[in-house]
Amino acid sequence: MLEFRDVSFRYPEDAQSMMEHLNFQVEDGDFVSIIGASGCGKSTVFRLINGLEQMQGGQIFVDGKPIQTLQQYSAFMPQKDLLFPWRTIAQNICLPMELAHIPKAEQAKRCTEVLEQVGLSQYRDKYPKDLSGGMKQRVAFARTLLAGADLLLLDEPFSALDYLTRVDMQEWLLHQWEHYHKTILFITHDVEEAIFLSKRILVIQDRPFRDMEDVRVPLAYPRNREDLKRADIVELKENLIEKLRRSVNV
Ligand SMILES: Nc1ncnc2c1ncn2[C@@H]1O[C@H](COP(=O)(O)OP(=O)(O)O)[C@@H](O)[C@H]1O
Ligand SMILES: [Mg+2]
Repeated sequence: MLEFRDVSFRYPEDAQSMMEHLNFQVEDGDFVSIIGASGCGKSTVFRLINGLEQMQGGQIFVDGKPIQTLQQYSAFMPQKDLLFPWRTIAQNICLPMELAHIPKAEQAKRCTEVLEQVGLSQYRDKYPKDLSGGMKQRVAFARTLLAGADLLLLDEPFSALDYLTRVDMQEWLLHQWEHYHKTILFITHDVEEAIFLSKRILVIQDRPFRDMEDVRVPLAYPRNREDLKRADIVELKENLIEKLRRSVNV
């Protein structure tokens, strides 16, 4: 689904490269997290996939094709919901479809379906200010879904939420993933969140980084928070935290 082949990148302002000859792959339908200390380059990986930054070497493929030859191959959701305050929830959700000139009736149909799926049907004519932080992130996720891409890039989407809301949102996101069969690449600095959500966790440890350690999470889906108490999972969590602590001075 997604492949980084020999990707090298350096910000022009920086003396040092951020990544050199980076290779990794994400399979169709997977849930993969990227973790690493703050500033290590997680968001830059997304900026490269989105084409917002140009790599100096290598190539990124989606479905076997170089991204330069593709359109609408990925949909991005940031930490902040970025909903427009003057638009209703339905109007916010329809924005990407408006920009893609999808007929109004089709927009309304898809909007109704997605609002039902994310559990916010009764909020369609409300404004962002009327919703809690968790609800706003659900709306932002719905909008991301309707952008029409199979690859979703979620950059710390829950990190601004309080702990209990975050835990609810993690369970909610797994339901959505199981329902929509999308491929999700998820950035977080929260190791427990990465373990609970992902099939695989990619760990950024060095600067520049050449590879990411690829850690498989030994849990089946659907998942239960009780699984996080298993001895092997607790050990995995401690190992990952230790790796991140060692890499903090990149
Ligand atoms: N737009 C930019 N221009 C120049 N350098 C940048 C830019 N964005 C990020 N950087 C550099 O990249 C580093 C942070 O990368 P980023 O991918 O945002 O990390 P993370 O998401 O892991 O916190 C910064 O330390 C800075 O050196
Ligand atoms: Mg970031």
